[in-house]
Amino acid sequence: MKVLIVGSGGREHAIAWKVAQSPKVDKIYCAPGNAGIEEYAECVAIGAMEFDRLAAFAKEKGIDLTVIGMDDPLVGGIVDVFEAQGLRVFGPRKNAASLEGSKAFSKDLMKKYGIPTAAYESFTDADAALAYLESAKLPIVLKADGLALGKGVLICNTLEEAKDGVKEIMLDKKFGSAGNCMVIEEFMTGREVSVLSYVDGKTIKPMTSAQDHKRAGDGDTGLNTGGMGTFSPSPFYTEEVDEFCRKYIYQPTVDAMAAEGRPFHGIIFFGLMLTEDGPKVLEYNARFGDPEAQVVLPRMKTDIIDVFEACIDGTLDQVDLEFEDNAAVCVVLASDGYPVHYEKGLKIDGLDAFQGKDGYYVFHAGTAKRGEGIVTNGGRVLGVTATGADLKTARANAYEAVQWVSFANKYYRNDIGRAIDEA
Ligand code: AMP
Ligand code: GLY
Repeated sequence: MKVLIVGSGGREHAIAWKVAQSPKVDKIYCAPGNAGIEEYAECVAIGAMEFDRLAAFAKEKGIDLTVIGMDDPLVGGIVDVFEAQGLRVFGPRKNAASLEGSKAFSKDLMKKYGIPTAAYESFTDADAALAYLESAKLPIVLKADGLALGKGVLICNTLEEAKDGVKEIMLDKKFGSAGNCMVIEEFMTGREVSVLSYVDGKTIKPMTSAQDHKRAGDGDTGLNTGGMGTFSPSPFYTEEVDEFCRKYIYQPTVDAMAAEGRPFHGIIFFGLMLTEDGPKVLEYNARFGDPEAQVVLPRMKTDIIDVFEACIDGTLDQVDLEFEDNAAVCVVLASDGYPVHYEKGLKIDGLDAFQGKDGYYVFHAGTAKRGEGIVTNGGRVLGVTATGADLKTARANAYEAVQWVSFANKYYRNDIGRAIDEA
């Protein structure tokens, strides 16, 4: 079969790598892709938001299955456009992608169906939000309603900061129309865990757990980023936590979406906080995480095409979803200065070192071809993943492999997986 993958980051590279393992797949295309994805896929210069061009391409090439990696096209309704033209596509429709696309929607859903999450209020009026803050407990969390590249969340320690935050989001529109509505919620403390899961409208199969490191600097300092590294599994995600989440969070979320007439087919990514009062939902995403996919997919044993097809057809209950009993760590190699200012176009050396090395992967995020070589082309450049029998071995392997690659402004965190030592 022929598969089209939509997206261009490290996540899509990991998806392409995994899809390429399936004996059912003869040909992979990726739009727009990147220099690393080219190893498995023919990259085509169509943007992820060009729905009509993508659908026309899928028809012309006789694509059997399209997989959407990114949030923007999902929230924008790419799946509806493909389905309307009779094309098979993996991902939630627009009305289900709201789970990620609107924080107010997802919070209201959790409240209505009793799914544990932080207490909150939503606002469409800045004055009402400012008035609410006067009596709110600090610290407090402000969230722009819509997609804001993971940057629409402000944690405020003082009333002044919170008031400034409301003004930035709702009046100055720092995150654009994402700030037409906002959620103000209780600050929670605890361990964060990500659980990605496959969903077919009614059945949910959670994957192995993972944890991301969102801040740019060691010790969780500096600005928020798309993610500087991940490890899987999380040692804090015990069987007891898993049992609780399946019963009170995962299945209730899927059932709630179905009851609302928004059956969810695709990936639900649960961002969880393990609080003293039990696990609570921080956020939902409607896609694989980046760089969570880079540690979860290398551990997945099951043919991903079978899982994608089952999610579309509503037959996930018949799939035996299996993961290796090992661990994986991904260290993101970024351009120094990310996520603010950084140089691009710098030559990358050492990528060949990964060839033929089992259990070591280099997933490209922001790279481009230049002549015979490959250059940096983004803030997050590469994700170096290694597996190992346990988390400590995987981490040692990943940091060893980090040294194989060089480029002029290479920057990475030295403490990915530091929570492993606290477990
Ligand atoms: P989100 O995009 O909703 O995942 O938020 C980004 C990050 O902000 C999360 O990964 C948490 O670290 C933090 N965060 C979001 N909501 C809360 C909350 N209610 N309490 C504490 N931290 C939060
Ligand atoms: N790594 C966080 C995300 O993909 O949203």
